[in-house]
Amino acid sequence: MKKITSVKEMKATARELRSRGKTIGFVPTMGYLHEGHLSLVRKSTQKAEVTVVSVFVNPAQFGPKEDFKEYPRDLNRDLRLLEKVGVDYLFYPDSEEVYPPGYRTYVRVHDLEEKLCGRSRPGFFRGVCTVVLKLFNIVEPDIAFFGQKDAQQAIILQRMVEDLHLDVKIEVLPIVRDEDGLALSSRNEYLNSKEREAALALPRSLQEAKKTIKIGERRAAVIIKKVEEMIRKEPLTKIDYVEIVDLDELKPIEMLKDGSLLALAVWVGKTRLIDNLMIEINEKRE
Ligand code: PAF
Repeated sequence: MKKITSVKEMKATARELRSRGKTIGFVPTMGYLHEGHLSLVRKSTQKAEVTVVSVFVNPAQFGPKEDFKEYPRDLNRDLRLLEKVGVDYLFYPDSEEVYPPGYRTYVRVHDLEEKLCGRSRPGFFRGVCTVVLKLFNIVEPDIAFFGQKDAQQAIILQRMVEDLHLDVKIEVLPIVRDEDGLALSSRNEYLNSKEREAALALPRSLQEAKKTIKIGERRAAVIIKKVEEMIRKEPLTKIDYVEIVDLDELKPIEMLKDGSLLALAVWVGKTRLIDNLMIEINEKRE
């Protein structure tokens, strides 16, 4: 695996790979990798001839009171994991390389960025879109891989790619969960054992929602109430939002339809966790 820190070198490498007709798969990350990231990397190594992973904790997507400084980082551990899964290039620039002095340009996907997580994290998706567009311009991938756990992020990036005519295909892969059901996230690291226990209310409530839908409930409000009740049973949790939305506009819907999204964000102690369920009404009965 070759390690690259400069934008210039990464761009030259991408250009050279493309001139040799190689397909480039790309997995952008903020490091502190877990099995969720690795599932994206594995898929990239299967689908593309060359795989590039970026590790960059993007300051532009953290609010002033958020955890940019505390965000877990362990580059050596990441390197070991990436070597094992056959990554070809690791791009890990520093902040000045990506946002040199005088930097002023930002990308916004209007109104989608204000829905769901955007309400309590203003500026978050502006930061994500900006850095991802920059990374796409630098790495020139054919396919880029993202996780379904960050469902809103994937929807917004897909919109950005279409709106800006970018030549990259976005592929979204399923949520990877720990054995106890908790969706993998680098931020799970913040949880102490009691909080971790409380956090299991998230996947449990989604399972309950799934069952309720399976037996025929279609009213979004009823499902949301059930999910909220289950989460509130855990005293360490505080709900940020539980919503059922359509996938195009991320607007709340009243009656479930195939391909809507049940998304939630919950504080567990000082850690904000997200999880979601893609609603499949026409799922075959077991
Ligand atoms: O999902 C993440 O880890 C980040 O939001 C991303 C896409 C790497 C942009 O910084």
